[in-house]
Amino acid sequence: MPEPEYLNDPSVRLLNESRKPAEPCSIVIFGASGDLTARKLIPALYHLFREKQMPPAFRVVGFARREKTDESWRTELRTALDQFSRTKPVDDKIWGEFSKNIFYCQGDMEDSAAYQKLEKLLTSFGQKPLRENVLFYLATLPSQFGQVVEQIHRAGLLQENGTGWQRIVVEKPFGHDLESARQLNVELTRFANEQQVFRIDHYLGKETVQNILMFRFSNSIFERLWNRDSVDHVQITVSEKLGVGARGGYYEEAGALRDMVQNHMLQVLALVTMEPPVSLEAECIRNEKVKLLQSIRTLRPDDISRNVVRGQYFAGVVDGQSRPGYRQEPKVKSDSNVETYVAAKLFIDNWRWSGVPFYLRTGKYLPQSASEVRVQFRPTPHVLFAAQCGEKLDQNAIALRLQPNEGIYLRFNGKVPGTSLAVRPVRMHFSYDAEFGAYTPEAYERLLLEAMVGDATLFIRRDEVETAWQIVDSIRKGWEGKSLTNREFYAAGTWGPIAADDLLAQSRHLWHEPQMIK
Ligand code: BG6
Repeated sequence: MPEPEYLNDPSVRLLNESRKPAEPCSIVIFGASGDLTARKLIPALYHLFREKQMPPAFRVVGFARREKTDESWRTELRTALDQFSRTKPVDDKIWGEFSKNIFYCQGDMEDSAAYQKLEKLLTSFGQKPLRENVLFYLATLPSQFGQVVEQIHRAGLLQENGTGWQRIVVEKPFGHDLESARQLNVELTRFANEQQVFRIDHYLGKETVQNILMFRFSNSIFERLWNRDSVDHVQITVSEKLGVGARGGYYEEAGALRDMVQNHMLQVLALVTMEPPVSLEAECIRNEKVKLLQSIRTLRPDDISRNVVRGQYFAGVVDGQSRPGYRQEPKVKSDSNVETYVAAKLFIDNWRWSGVPFYLRTGKYLPQSASEVRVQFRPTPHVLFAAQCGEKLDQNAIALRLQPNEGIYLRFNGKVPGTSLAVRPVRMHFSYDAEFGAYTPEAYERLLLEAMVGDATLFIRRDEVETAWQIVDSIRKGWEGKSLTNREFYAAGTWGPIAADDLLAQSRHLWHEPQMIK
C-alpha cells in the first residue's frame, strides 16, 4: 500500500518523531514452551524485526523444562510461525536473520542452577547490554511469578544499581481477586520495584484502543459533547462468536467477569471516560485512569441483582453449526453456575459523568465477534418532525469500532431525498482500512516494543489492577451462593440472556448490536 501523500509533507507532524529507539537487549521468556510464545510472542518479535523496529542487537532466550536444542526450538517456532504469522508466507531470508538470535535454555524454574546457566548464556553473548538490559517475560502461572523473580535476583540478573535495565513483563490473569492480586504485587516487588513491572492487558496494545485518547484529546468537536450534558448513556460491547471450547478448566475458575471485565472492559471504560492527563507521560495517563476507576460507584450486595446480570449459554447454533452448552464443555461441572456472559450498569460518580449509565456487556457464543463503544447522545428537546416520523427520533450516536472493521462512525438523522419529509438515520464513517490500508499490527508487537523501550503507558499499574479487582469483587460477592435463574440462560448464537434486556429496560434503553459496516 503506498503511503498517503500527507505523510511526506514536512508540515504534518508525526507523533512518533521523538520516539526513543530500543536499546540492545535480551528477552528471556519463562514458560517458553507454552502456547503464548509460539502463537503471539515469536510472531510479534519476527514482525518487529521485519519492520526494523528491533534494537540493533538483541537475543531471545526461551527458558523451559523440556529438552531442546537451539536448533530444534528454532525449527519448532518456524513451523508455528507459518501457522500464526499475520503476514504470509513467512519470509525465509528475514526468518534466517531473525532466528540466529534465538536461543534455548533448558531448566526448571525451581532450580537455582538453571538460573546460573541462564546467566552464563547471557554473558556468552559477549556484549554488555545483552547481559545487562534484560526483559524477563513471565509466560508462566501466576503462582510462579514470585519464585522466578527471586531466582533471577539471586542469580544476579536483577541489579538494583547496575548500569543496564531489567524489566519484568507479566501476563494475565493477575490474581483472581483483590487479595490474591495484592499478594502477587507483593511477591513481584520483593526483589524488583514497581517501575520494573509491566503488567500486560493486550487490549491496550490494540491500535483502536490507543486511538481512544487521540480521538478524544486531539479533536475539539467531540470532547465538548463528552459529558453528562450531552451523553444519554454509553454501551461497551465485547462479543465473541467463540465458546469456551478447550479452556473449560480455566473458565471454571475465571468466568466472564474476571476474564474480560476486570481487565479489558474496565480499561476501555477508563480510556473513554477519564479526564485529560497533564501530559502523555505514563504516570500522568495512569493517574487519570486510576482516578476514574476509583470513581466508579461501588455496588453493595443489594445493588448487584439490579445492576449486574450474568448469563450462561446452553446448546444452540452459531453460524449454522450446532454448539454444546457450557455445562457440556470439557472440564466444566455439569451444574456449573459460572458465567459466560456479563452485563453491568455502572455509574461514575464525578462531575463529568454524574447520572450517566455505562452499560458493559461481554459474552461467549454470541452471534458476532465485535468490540464497540457506543456513545448515545440525548434526544432532541423537541421533535419538529413528529408528524413524519413519530415522537421518537433516532438519537445521535458515535460508535468506536475497536474490532473488526476498525473505525469510527457518527450516526445522525437526515432527510430521505424526495418530496416527502421522511427522516431516517444516516452515517458518517471513518474506516482504518480505507484510510490507512490493511496494516494492523498485533497488540503484542506494540506491547513488546514499548516494554523494550521502557514506556509503561500501555501497561497496568499496581493501583489500577487493585482498584479494578475491588469493583469486580463487589460484584462477585453479590453472586455468592446464588444459582443462575432461567432468565440468565441463553442459547448459543443469541445476544445473551433475557435478564440483560431487562437491565436496560429499567431505564427505557435498548442494547444496540454492533453494526457490521465495511
Ligand atoms: C482474553 C480472554 O484475555 O481475551 C479470552 O482470556 C478472550 O477469553 C480474549 O477470548 C479476547 O481477546 P480479543 O483480542 O480476541 O478480543
